[in-house]
Amino acid sequence: MSTTLRTPPAHGTAKPPQDTRAGGVEPIAPPPQELTNEEIDKVFATIDIPPCPAIVIDAMREAQKDIPDVVRLAKTISADVGMAAITIKLANSPLFRAGAPITTVRRALERLGTINVVCVVVAAALRETLKGPSAAFLDGYWAKTSAVALGSGMIAKRQYGISPDAAYTYALFHDAGIPLMLRRYPEYEKVLTICRATGDLLVDSEKDYFPCTHPVIGSLLVRNWGLPAPLINAIRLHHERDVYHLPDATLHGNSLSLIATTHIAERLIGQILGEKEYEVGQALFDRAVVHLGLSSEDLEDVHEDMIQALNEAKR
Ligand SMILES: [Fe+2]
Repeated sequence: MSTTLRTPPAHGTAKPPQDTRAGGVEPIAPPPQELTNEEIDKVFATIDIPPCPAIVIDAMREAQKDIPDVVRLAKTISADVGMAAITIKLANSPLFRAGAPITTVRRALERLGTINVVCVVVAAALRETLKGPSAAFLDGYWAKTSAVALGSGMIAKRQYGISPDAAYTYALFHDAGIPLMLRRYPEYEKVLTICRATGDLLVDSEKDYFPCTHPVIGSLLVRNWGLPAPLINAIRLHHERDVYHLPDATLHGNSLSLIATTHIAERLIGQILGEKEYEVGQALFDRAVVHLGLSSEDLEDVHEDMIQALNEAKR
């Protein structure tokens, strides 16, 4: 049976995430509840949530067994050339690389662990499922999402208690609602383009122009595809202004740390790519930095690590 090969914390500056919820100075709003029926109806009335592809169902069924059949899982993934290529590339990426480059899905499974590989399969299937108009835009979206996922993993590696692979996986999925909205609403690309040019927060513009937002749609998509509840919850809440002050029962501390790594990665990747940042905003970024206990020197180091990792990933 394959197991996840975890990379130990890389730097001595790592500190445990701080629970900024205790004693927070801001008033605590009532916690967001489960999606209401009204919210779900509104989303399903306007958005076509794609069904779960067969390869994802097969891979998840295998991964959920007490003892997954790695050979069978490798065979399922290898049958899809694109899937196999993505899996092997990730196993050789700076985040997971250990020793000589590997060339087979079977070896990638051993290095990444079954759960990670299934998440990669789901992300690749998602990308395939959401192909359509705005191909050039979508290519840019996935390139940036991959960079944010890598960056989130790099940040998690510096921290105690945050799994780099969980941070990577969460980051891959957290904005899955964006391509769905792009496919559904012809005006969405225009709204996004404005946000990119002005730095207006995308989620605020979505509230202004559309009947739903990408966190809600993304969370419904991953719920429909049978992904784990903590992932669903973190996606749903990642733009809530009070996300760093929610009670543990609403959002578990581990999920909050995943959100924080992504908040920081989004901002830093935006800086590296020379883009205006329209996803996180200054307030959530500042809270993420406090939550993870990062100093300005830590942030500079993370920034450097990310530039290096992105350059290596391009090779
Ligand atoms: Fe988002």
